[in-house]
Amino acid sequence: MKVLLVGSGGREHALADAISRSPLLGRLYCAPGNAGIAQVAHSVEIQTEDIDALCRFAEEKQVDLVVIGPERPLIMGLADRLRAQGRLVFGPSAAAARLEGSKAFTAELLARHGLSDKEFAVFDSPEAAKAYVREQGAPIVVKADGDALGKGVKVCDTIEEAEQFVDDVMVRRLFGAAGNRVVIEQCLIGEECTIKVFTDGKAVLPMVPSQDHKRIGEGDTGANTGGMGCYSPVPAVDDNLQQQIVDSVVVPTVQAMAAEGAPYTGTLYAGCILTDQGPELIEYNCRFGDPEAQVVIPRLQSDLLEVLAATAEGNLARINLQWSDQVAACVVAASAGYPQQYEKGKLITGLEDAAAEPQIHVYHAGTACEDGRYYTAGGRVLAVTALGADYDEAFNRAYAAMEKIRFEGMYYRRDIGWRVRSDCLDG
Ligand code: GLY
Repeated sequence: MKVLLVGSGGREHALADAISRSPLLGRLYCAPGNAGIAQVAHSVEIQTEDIDALCRFAEEKQVDLVVIGPERPLIMGLADRLRAQGRLVFGPSAAAARLEGSKAFTAELLARHGLSDKEFAVFDSPEAAKAYVREQGAPIVVKADGDALGKGVKVCDTIEEAEQFVDDVMVRRLFGAAGNRVVIEQCLIGEECTIKVFTDGKAVLPMVPSQDHKRIGEGDTGANTGGMGCYSPVPAVDDNLQQQIVDSVVVPTVQAMAAEGAPYTGTLYAGCILTDQGPELIEYNCRFGDPEAQVVIPRLQSDLLEVLAATAEGNLARINLQWSDQVAACVVAASAGYPQQYEKGKLITGLEDAAAEPQIHVYHAGTACEDGRYYTAGGRVLAVTALGADYDEAFNRAYAAMEKIRFEGMYYRRDIGWRVRSDCLDG
């Protein structure tokens, strides 16, 4: 099978690594990829949002399956364009990707189908939005409606903070057209976790749960990032709770999308919060998370390419997913300054040494290779994932491997997994 993978992050390195081990694979291309992905795939110099060029490439190479990693090209309709060419595609249509691309669409869909009783309101004027905030009080959640690359949601502790964020989104237009509307939602309190499923629009196969640390600082403080580390499994989400979330929200959402003429296929990522009253959905994403993919995919024992192809073909019901019982722990290393402005072009050393043990994966994200040497080229530079018999073994391995890697300004949190590591729990 000829496969084109679209994306350039740690998520795509995890996908590329697993796809490259499939006996079904003939040739793997990755557009644009990164220096780590280039070790297992042929890099193609096309950016993820260059829809025309990606379609031309898929046609020219007669690619059998296209796997789309990031949300932006999905929201822009890349999957639709490729399907119109007759290609198999792993990833939802633009209409289905609205589950991530429009917070208002999702809130209204869930309410229409009785899948959430969370209070929310949608506004296209900042004055009306701020009046609603004053009426509801704080804490309260303000969401830019559109795709703001993960930065458009704020949990506001005060009315002033919420009013300020409404202005950032709608008046100062920090996220451009994503801020044409805002969704204001009730704030829920609890531990967050992620449930992801494969779905072909009919069958829904859950992956193992994971938990991410989104803040830049230790103690889960500071600015939001794409994710600084995560782990799988999650003690708070046992099989029963996972099944409850899948049965009560995820499956009915897939059914609702089909009923409304926008069948959802690909990975559906349900960000949940475990409140005292039970689990609640807080967001959907139309893709694997990053770095969630870097802990979920290493635990998958089934052939990932077979699963992706079956999903794309609408044949997922024939797949029986097999998962490792091992714990996966992932720590992300970032460039100095991330998630604000960061430095690039710093020499990275120790990569081979770090990846020497079979239980370790070093997934590249913002890296570039020149004359056989690796340099930083992004905010999140790489992620180290380790497998182990328990949380302590997995995290000790991940941190020991991370200590072998060096670049100027390298930053990583030392407390990833604090809820599950005995050294953190012991104080
Ligand atoms: N790690 C969060 C996300 O991928 O959206």
